Amino acid sequence: MFAARQVFGAAQKRAFSVSARQNSKVAVLGAAGGIGQPLSLLLKLNPRVSSLALYDIRGGPGVAADVSHVNTKSIVKGYDPTPSGLKECLEGAEIVLIPAGVPRKPGMTRDDLFNTNASIVRDLAKATAEAAPKANVLIISNPVNSTVPITAEVFKSKGVYDPKRLFGVTTLDVVRASRFISEIKGSDPANENITVVGGHSGATIVPLLSQSGHKLEGETLDAYIKRVQFGGDEVVQAKGGAGSATLSMAMAGARFAESLLKAAQGEKGVVEPTFVESPLYKDQGCDFFASNVELGPNGVEKIHPVGKITEFEQKLLDVCLQDLAKNIQKGVKFVKENP
Ligand code: NAD
Ligand code: LMR
Repeated sequence: MFAARQVFGAAQKRAFSVSARQNSKVAVLGAAGGIGQPLSLLLKLNPRVSSLALYDIRGGPGVAADVSHVNTKSIVKGYDPTPSGLKECLEGAEIVLIPAGVPRKPGMTRDDLFNTNASIVRDLAKATAEAAPKANVLIISNPVNSTVPITAEVFKSKGVYDPKRLFGVTTLDVVRASRFISEIKGSDPANENITVVGGHSGATIVPLLSQSGHKLEGETLDAYIKRVQFGGDEVVQAKGGAGSATLSMAMAGARFAESLLKAAQGEKGVVEPTFVESPLYKDQGCDFFASNVELGPNGVEKIHPVGKITEFEQKLLDVCLQDLAKNIQKGVKFVKENP
């Protein structure tokens, strides 16, 4: 009898802890933007999300009202920049996605966005460090190579930095790498899994095609690498001044959030590429680096090394590391000089 009660108690506890983990509040800062809106919609469709909090300097409640009519169970609330709006949006969030900031126009690099977006991300990071210090923070705003170190510095200054919970979202690079190889090979992109390491801009994006089993050579290989590295520019040019990738980015951001929620809810072996504080190239001035990362209940579980690469890929990586170190340093310096 006693044993039966013990077993029942354990099962009840397990059931409770599973459903408690499924009570996941997700906040989006910049929710009324080109990425924010479709991202919020995709999160509303995700049954792992129980509460969706949408903040923007303008239009958060409107997007929330619209998305809230979608017939899934989660509760949606929108927030304006009132004195308490951002704080209430963030409180209790397990995941905070930040796509707030300006996008590129043709002719601009991501680094050209630094002057505007660095302070936007710094201020949102401050609010997050205060209201949701234990949340997983997913930085989408560009330049990611600098905005992630900015967020880390802000969290450090508030004494709440946990490197396992800060992620630069580089998922779009692997989404593109899979799609573009499938176009060349005539394969199903859903079955393609190309590792992409480094950072998230131009030459810092390093696709490791050799690890996928595919072999391209000469001009075909050069064109493939260039397309993955500059896929963002393709969209910026096609949109002709109306912004950069929003829909594919929303899909990529929603995929990353879903992976984190899966891992938080106990699923094992969830691996996503992401730009995190990493030991891999610290000795070359890169405290942050994107590689495949196994996710777990506490965020980063295991950072995968880059693995075996070709001489050609090593050359790409060498160029990447030089640029990346400068981008990271720029972010750190910004917070030191503009706390
Ligand atoms: P957008 O201009 O359409 O939307 C940005 C939104 O941010 C706007 O609604 C704006 O009101 C809001 N915003 C600005 N300042 C804010 C603040 N302080 N607090 C809250 N919200 C604020 O731009 P977008 O196309 O959605 O792109 C957003 C960012 O994402 C850009 O920096 C872009 O370069 C970046 N991006 C990153 C990736 C990636 O792979 N990581 C991909 C695409 C775009
Ligand atoms: C992308 O890769 O599409 C984004 O970083 C947006 C951009 O500026 O290209």
